[in-house]
Parts: sequence; C-alpha cells; structure tokens
Amino acid sequence: MKELIREEVRGMKRYVAGKPVSEVKRELGLTQVVKMASNENPWGASPRVKEAVVRTLSDISRYPDSGSFGLRAALMAKTGVPMEKIFAGCGSDSLIKVISATFLRPGEEILMGEHSFSRYEDNALLMGARVVKSPMPQGFLDLPDMLTRITDKTRIIYLCCPNNPTGSAFGKAQFEAFLLHVPERVVLVLDEAYREYVTREDYFEALDYLPDHPRLIVLRTFSKAYGMASLRVGYGFAQEELVEAFQKVMDPFLVNLFAQEAAVAALEDEDFLRHVQEENRKGKAYFYEELQALNLPYVPSEANFVLFDTGRDDLEVFQALLRKGYIVRPGSYLGLPGFLRVTISTMEDNRGFFEALRQVLEGAVSKNAQTLR
Ligand SMILES: Cc1ncc(COP(=O)(O)O)c(C=O)c1O
Repeated sequence: MKELIREEVRGMKRYVAGKPVSEVKRELGLTQVVKMASNENPWGASPRVKEAVVRTLSDISRYPDSGSFGLRAALMAKTGVPMEKIFAGCGSDSLIKVISATFLRPGEEILMGEHSFSRYEDNALLMGARVVKSPMPQGFLDLPDMLTRITDKTRIIYLCCPNNPTGSAFGKAQFEAFLLHVPERVVLVLDEAYREYVTREDYFEALDYLPDHPRLIVLRTFSKAYGMASLRVGYGFAQEELVEAFQKVMDPFLVNLFAQEAAVAALEDEDFLRHVQEENRKGKAYFYEELQALNLPYVPSEANFVLFDTGRDDLEVFQALLRKGYIVRPGSYLGLPGFLRVTISTMEDNRGFFEALRQVLEGAVSKNAQTLR
C-alpha cells in the first residue's frame, strides 16, 4: 500500500490540532474545561454573524456563489482595493495550499522563519519543494538574515506577521527595507492572520504596498479577531493576474454560503471588533504581569496568544494543566521544547489559568530546555 502514496506525502507530518474540549472532558472526567490552545476568540462572534447564519438556513440546499461576490465587494468597500484583486477561500489554510500549488515546482524553495506557521512547510513539501528556514532570535523573524538565504531556486517567501507561534511582529521600517531587496522572481506572502490584534504603533498597512509590489500577496482571516473559526473563511489581496490563476486552482465552491454571509455581517460590526481588541489588550497586560511575577521569560506578543518559557518539561506542564481543565499548546509540538503557547482569553479564564499554572509549576521539576537564541 505504502508504494501507492506519493513520496512527497509520505515525507509530510500530520498537523496536530489543539485538543477539543469534549475530548478532554471525556478522557479526564472533567466537567469544566477551558481551551486556550488554538488562538480562538473567547468572545465568540458578533451577534450579526449569528443572525446571518440563521437567515441563510433557508438557502441550505443551494450552492454558494463560487466567486464570493458579496464578500469581495464588502472587502473592497472596507479596504479600497478593487474586487479583482481580492480572493477568498475556506480559511487562509486553503489559500496557502492554493498559493503553493500555483507557484511551486519540484525542487524549488520556500523561505520561512524557523518557528513559524507549519502549513507553509507542509504545503511546500506536498508540491515537492524544499523548505529553507531562517533562525528567529528571541522569537522574531530576522528579515536581513532571510534576504541572505534567497537563492535562484527561491519561489515563495512567507512572512507571518504577527508570527504564529511566537506572537512577534516587525514594523514598517523593517518591512520596507525588506521589500526593497526581494527579487522580482520571488513571491512574497505576508500572512496577517492576527493583524487586528497588533498594538505596536509602527505597524503598517500592507495593502498600501500592493500597487508597487506586484508579487506581494497579503493573507487575512475571519477565524481570529472576528471569531468565525468554525465557518472557515480566509481572504487575500494580490494582483489581478495572480488572483485569476488562484481561481483556476481553487475548488469551485470553496467558501460556503454561511461563511460568505457571515463574513459580510462581521465586517459591518466594528464595535464587536473594537471590543475584542480592547479585551485582548487588557488580557495581554495581565499575562505579562503574571509571567513577570513568575519569572518566566516571554516573547512580547502582537497577537492573541503569548509564548513563554516554562523552564520545565513543557509536555509535563501541559499534561498537568490538562488535568486541571486547561488546554494549552505545548512548545514541543511547535519545535520549541520547554515553551507553552497560550491564547489570551476572558479575564476569568486568564485568572484561572495562572492559578493552575502556579500550582503546576510548584510541583514540576525544572529542566534546562531549549532557549530562543
Ligand atoms: C499564521 C496563521 N495563518 C493562517 C492560519 C489559518 O487560519 P484559517 O485557515 O482559520 O483562516 C492560522 C491559524 O491558526 C495562522 O495562525
């Protein structure tokens, strides 16, 4: 049987998703479980999103609009980017696959950060491409280092900003300096899945760079700040010619009808988005306070999660937290042994989590795990 499977697929690793609440309740016999593992939105989605889903139920038997016209029009109204330059998919996950299939030939290379979103790598391997990684000192993408790793074979560079799983982001000056040196034959994907959470003042509007940088692709999603992870809708911006190519590669009905209607409704509710941003900002300040009090080093985050060094065996800490009803993401699953990545949640859950963490750390043996160089 094994010979039937393409070598590229055999070489891939399966994506390990955060454990679902129902599984942890069942396995550990717990009644109260809080998931802080997958950077989901603890404030749910806007009530308008829910109304849109209910309203759309009457059309359940219809295929969705394959061109996501209404959603792309709403995104055009919001951003000023013409519709022809906007594309949407079943989560930005699906768009990473579409981009990989559109550009990568066997033997070509993608370039990404050492601790960045794993789907760039998986999809490159699927296409028979090679993956080149740049070290990430203190959890930050090292843009000048990335430039030195561009070769004749480099086809796509992925900049994840804010970066998952470290939470770090670069500013406008760094981005502009990088853009200047990316050769014309290279596609630059800026994945901004967490952009709505950014608080650093020198952040930039990536869409402003589209006209002068025809190989720039910007990816965003409704899964995080808009709280629509289950509906699976991500979107992107690129030159018209590239969008036309993506449309050939995409499955025809990639964004379901509920997702399209809900995403339009989500864009209309700016108050909800502001509420999420404000609560996340408060939660982040609380995380920093607690981590400082516990003397645990962390990467300053521009996202809705914080990566920190437990100084212990992260899998042990993870298991002990699970038994207390808190699901987090162990660094060992992300190539960062010793670390935990924890989603910023409601204040009640944040407090509960730190109380559980204190108890766990008191009982855990300290261990010299990897440090971020
Ligand atoms: C950096 C990054 N990009 C893309 C995605 C995919 O998001 P979605 O497929 O839900 O839009 C995620 C999800 O965690 C992510 O962290």
